[in-house]
Amino acid sequence: MASLNSRTAGALEGEVRVPGDKSISHRALMLGALATGRTLITGLLDGEDVLRTASAMRQLGAGVSAGADGVWRVAGRGIGGLVEPDGVLDLGNAGTGARLVLGLLASHPLMATLTGDASLRRRPMARVALPLQRMGATIHAREGCLLPLTIIGAANPVPISYRLPVPSAQVKSAILLAGLNTPGHTTVVEPEPTRDHTELMLRHFGVEVRVERTPQGRATTIAGQPEIEGRAIAVPGDPSSAAFPMVAALLLPGSDIVLTGIGVNPHRTGLIRTLIEMGARIEIANRRDWAGEPVADIAVRASELRGVEVPPSRAPSMIDEYPILAVAAAFARGRTIMRGLRELRVKESDRLQRIASGLAACGVEAAIDGDDLIVTGAGRPPRGGATIETALDHRIAMAFLVMGMASQKPVGIDDSGPIDTSFPGFAKVMNGLGADIAPADPATPGAGE
Ligand code: S3P
Repeated sequence: MASLNSRTAGALEGEVRVPGDKSISHRALMLGALATGRTLITGLLDGEDVLRTASAMRQLGAGVSAGADGVWRVAGRGIGGLVEPDGVLDLGNAGTGARLVLGLLASHPLMATLTGDASLRRRPMARVALPLQRMGATIHAREGCLLPLTIIGAANPVPISYRLPVPSAQVKSAILLAGLNTPGHTTVVEPEPTRDHTELMLRHFGVEVRVERTPQGRATTIAGQPEIEGRAIAVPGDPSSAAFPMVAALLLPGSDIVLTGIGVNPHRTGLIRTLIEMGARIEIANRRDWAGEPVADIAVRASELRGVEVPPSRAPSMIDEYPILAVAAAFARGRTIMRGLRELRVKESDRLQRIASGLAACGVEAAIDGDDLIVTGAGRPPRGGATIETALDHRIAMAFLVMGMASQKPVGIDDSGPIDTSFPGFAKVMNGLGADIAPADPATPGAGE
C-alpha cells in the first residue's frame, strides 16, 4: 500500500481540468455497447472504475478501444444484442458499474456472474435485484444479496412501474437500462429526484424519455426496444472530483483557481450551493452544453467560511461530496449540520463513520446524531497530524489529503491506491496548483502519529 502525506501549502493558483465524470463515463460505455454502429467518446474518465466497465462491455461482446488520440471507440451490439460472457465480470470498486450492468443483463436471456473488491462485496444489491426480479430476471446471490451474484436475464422481460424506496440514481438507471430491451413502457418514480445522466444520455442517443411530475414524485418513462445508433459524446469534468481542488482553494489564503469544463448538472451542484451559503467566493461562467449535459468554468477564491445547516432534501445532489464538505466545515466558523445522510453508510466505506472518526483524529469536533453529521469549526486551521485509514474509499482518501493541505500539522493516508478509481493523477494535479502531497516519510508527523 502506498501511503501519502499532505502538508500545508501556500496559495493555490492556476487553471485546471479534472478527469471526466465517472457517472457519465460508465453510461457512455454502456449505451455505446447497446447502440448500433460506433460511439466516439472524448474525455472519458480512465480511472479504475470505468476501466472495469470497459472490460465488462468487451466481455459482453462490444468492441471497446482507446486510441492514442485519447478518443474511446465503442462498436455496439444493438439493443438486445449482448452476448453471454465466458468468465466472471469483475467490477472492482464500482457500485455504479455493478448495479448498471445488472440492469443491462436483466433483459438479456443469458447468464453472468458479477463480483468486485472487498468494498463492493459488502454493498447492498437487493435495491437493484428486487425491481429486476419483478421484470423477470433470476438472481442468485450470497446471504444478504451481496456479490458475487449470478443473474439469468429474462427471455421475456415485463415492463414495470417502480417507486424508488431509496433515492438512488443507480437503481433508477438499472431499471431504465433493463427497460431498453423490454417491450412496453418502463417507469421509475422518484420521491426525491436524483442525477439524471442516464435520461439525458438516452435522449442524446435519440430515445424518447418522458418525465412528469406526479403526486408521488418525478416519473420517468421510456418505451422499450427503440433503435439506437452510435453517437459522439464529450464527457464533462467530474464535479465530484472538482470538489477537492475547489475546497482546497477556499481554505488556503490567497488562492485563486479556475476549474474548466466542469459538469454543472443541477442534480450535482448541491456542494457549490452549500459552499456559497457558507460564504465561498465561487463564480460559474461560460455555460455550455456537451451531449445534453450542462458544462461551465468555475472560478474559486480563498474565502472565510461559516457553518450552515444542510437540509436532507439536498443530499441527492451532493451525495458524494459530504467527505469534502465536512473538511470545509472543520475550517469554518461555527456548526455545520448535515442532515439525512443514511445513504453514506453504504458507500465505498461507511462514510458517516469514517468522516467523523477521521475528523476527530485531526482534532475536530465531529458528532453523528442518527443520520445527521455535526461538525464544529473554530474558523481557523484544525490541528491535523493524523494518519487516516482509506478503507478502499477514494473520496475519504482525497478529502483528508485536502485536510492536510491547510491544517497545522500534516495529514497522511495509509493507502493512496483507491484514488485511481475516480481521480488518477490527483496528487500531480493538486501539486500543479501549489499543494505539497508526497509519499509518506515514516519519520514525519502525519505519517505515523
Ligand atoms: C451514482 C449514483 C450515486 C453516487 C455514485 C454514482 C451514479 O449512488 O453516490 O457515486 O452514477 O448513478 P446511489 O445511486 O447509490 O445514490
